[in-house]
Amino acid sequence: MTQRPFGWTGEQVPVIGQGTWMIEGAADAERRSVDALRAGIDLGLTHVDTAEMYGDGRAEEIAGQAIAGRRDKVFLVSKVLPSNASYEGTLRACERSLQRLGTDRLDLYLLHWESDQPIRETMRAMAQLIDEGQIRFAGVSNFDVDRVRAAQSALPNHRLASNQVLYHLGERGIERTLIPYCQAQGIAVVGYTPFGRAKFPRPDSPGGCVLDAIAQRHGRTVRQVILNFLTRLEGVFTIPKAGNLEHTRENAGGTGWVLPPEDIAAIDRAFPAPSRAVPLAML
Ligand SMILES: NC(=O)c1ccc[n+]([C@@H]2O[C@H](COP(=O)([O-])OP(=O)(O)OC[C@H]3O[C@@H](n4cnc5c(N)ncnc54)[C@H](OP(=O)(O)O)[C@@H]3O)[C@@H](O)[C@H]2O)c1
Repeated sequence: MTQRPFGWTGEQVPVIGQGTWMIEGAADAERRSVDALRAGIDLGLTHVDTAEMYGDGRAEEIAGQAIAGRRDKVFLVSKVLPSNASYEGTLRACERSLQRLGTDRLDLYLLHWESDQPIRETMRAMAQLIDEGQIRFAGVSNFDVDRVRAAQSALPNHRLASNQVLYHLGERGIERTLIPYCQAQGIAVVGYTPFGRAKFPRPDSPGGCVLDAIAQRHGRTVRQVILNFLTRLEGVFTIPKAGNLEHTRENAGGTGWVLPPEDIAAIDRAFPAPSRAVPLAML
């Protein structure tokens, strides 16, 4: 599993991690999700992303089952809901997340998206959580460059470690200014929803055919090509969610090999990044 430094933190984190949105459900589906997450950790997909929002805390409980006994192998990330992101609310939300995850610390804690609460209050809580050891690093999610700047100013004694944003073949707007800005600041960019949900390239579309030809040439699958492409830039990570072992294994094969420049160019032509700055897209 290819790893790279997680921005300025220097922490070696796998370029492909594991999401947990919508892993809650019937008991057998949850068991499969726990098995998939565990297998993923064994395969090196040790960046586990969750949030208090997912399943109203259920996803954190499931993630907690998956990391039990292997906490030290995992780069564990959770997020505070904007509606909880007052100073006191952030501290309490973190405590609840730690309890559900069955751990005493998060590696990274994110503000899930912009809050009505003043950012300085959220970041004051983040600073306290770092200082007291409940979280190692603080970050944001769904923040454009201006908001990242404001969040960093509101956290004067610590550095923001990460910004988690939407990034898939149909949404490449972050490549214009957000990724270069974060790279320059040493802020790790974690792309979510790499398969684009309803925008997953149809196999019979022109873009789908390009991906299929590349996948066949390399003895890979289309999803592996997509994950490889989305993690080609320094400081950028991706966190696909998989609900079973087969999907997790397939996703793990998205790294450990290199797409040659001519294939990157072909994907660029089939799924072009916007030619000018666009507002940050989010789900
Ligand atoms: N910060 C934010 O605002 C935000 C927003 C959205 C997501 N996220 C995070 O990012 C993670 C990933 O995004 P996402 O869950 O929206 O979408 P995604 O990872 O792009 O796609 C998940 C879907 O792809 C399927 N899938 C995964 N691997 C597959 C494979 N190898 N073959 C076939 N199907 C496969 C999954 O099905 P199965 O379940 O059947 O495997 C699931 O239906 C989330 O889980 C969450 O942790 C963050």
